[in-house]
Amino acid sequence: MGSTPTYGICFQKLALKVSSGLLPARKRRLLTVHTALRLPSTVRFYPISIVTTRKLFERRIIAVQPLNIDAVRAKFPAISQPGSPVFFDNPGGTQVPQSVIQAVTQCYVRTCANVGGAFNTSVGVVHTINRARLAAAALLNAPNPTNIVFGNNMTSLTFHVARAVADTIQPGDEIIVTDLDHDANVAPWLDLQAQGAVIKRMSLNSNDCTIDIGELTSLLTSRTRLLAITAASNASGTIPDVNRAVKLAKSAGALTYVDAVQFAPHRATDVQQMGCDFLVCSAYKFFGPHVGILYGTDEVLNNLPRHKVRPAPALPPSSWETGTQNHEGIAGTLAAIEHIAAPDAEVKPWNTSQELRNQIVESMSRMQSHEDSLCYTLIDALQEISGVRILGITDPARRQERLSTVSFVWDRLSPRATTNKLAERGIYCWSGNYYAYQFMKSLGMDEGAIRVGPVHYNTLNEIDQLLETLKSL
Ligand SMILES: Cc1ncc(COP(=O)(O)O)c(C=O)c1O
Repeated sequence: MGSTPTYGICFQKLALKVSSGLLPARKRRLLTVHTALRLPSTVRFYPISIVTTRKLFERRIIAVQPLNIDAVRAKFPAISQPGSPVFFDNPGGTQVPQSVIQAVTQCYVRTCANVGGAFNTSVGVVHTINRARLAAAALLNAPNPTNIVFGNNMTSLTFHVARAVADTIQPGDEIIVTDLDHDANVAPWLDLQAQGAVIKRMSLNSNDCTIDIGELTSLLTSRTRLLAITAASNASGTIPDVNRAVKLAKSAGALTYVDAVQFAPHRATDVQQMGCDFLVCSAYKFFGPHVGILYGTDEVLNNLPRHKVRPAPALPPSSWETGTQNHEGIAGTLAAIEHIAAPDAEVKPWNTSQELRNQIVESMSRMQSHEDSLCYTLIDALQEISGVRILGITDPARRQERLSTVSFVWDRLSPRATTNKLAERGIYCWSGNYYAYQFMKSLGMDEGAIRVGPVHYNTLNEIDQLLETLKSL
């Protein structure tokens, strides 16, 4: 990166004007971002090089009304302290804003009771859970809060659903899994082999860490019962065309189970657009507590067999929620979703899921814009370090196919040795296979890779800090 500080963010209209060629090429070349933008003084600036800015700008990566990053960071106690570490371990779990901490605490202080009682604390906690279900429906664009099931985490929920599906399996029925997936969306389905299910795998393209959705046409048969597919890889950040995969699987009569654990923190998830039967995610990956969320259509939640205690409610979603839930975690999940709706401002009052959904969709596109600029600044700079190999898509023209989770290896140090050294210097990144078990096996990478996962609270300064530190190792 050059040393000239200039503006790293801009308005969509101008970005479009420039990148769509409405400004003549010569003028485009001459365009210096700060003179062209005429930004009001209220707009935040990032000190990044003019070359990087122009590249991001021309690729339409920096756009829309920018996030106020100082306001975002001020909400997170763990990152707003002087001398706090740099958190790039976000794909493993994010930090939480004060509002989440407060919601968890308030749940203990004001509504610490089980559900179903006649007294205030019990009535209060039921109110919180109902509101959290509305908020989760907004996050995923589920038609109703009754389509939302809470649980411990994605893995437990998936084993739970797999056990229900197992009851419907006949020997010779087929399940399709992918080599792009975290093992939590593979191992539960492998268990169905005990019922005689045949497992088929969609293979990983090792060049760009993608899967070929077209491969499904040869894998799907009249015996296919379920397709389990990720909406985004926790290793390479790859976003496969889940909409198309679901369509193909549904037309073959198969159920579809989508893992959105990595997708949901970065993009507006839309189960109705996807058309899936199930989708699952985890609140601790999107600034909340350790709680899992399962979406299911009315049809599957009503008709699949359930494993439950007899006096528990017979109807979904409660009939899918085993035992007493993590009430304080659900209260925090509600606050985390409200944070996503207003990451750099006060949450606007909302009554319906749709009102909250509108805020979420808008703010997620602002977060994406910021994350994309961090992601491609990182990718561009990593590619300039000799011996570095990035796993997956690096071409910004393909940014619809990836999110900001970036894994790489280099020839200087092993992944673990690298993250040890980074941790000593206050930069937290992950190393290993991150349970993307078959993914790493397919690439023959026994030691896994180094993973850097910027989210909306990270800054270009932190990316610079990481790059400078890496170069110094
Ligand atoms: C893509 C993906 N799927 C599933 C999981 C498992 O989620 P949980 O810890 O909620 O069981 C993870 C966790 O890292 C993940 O990244």
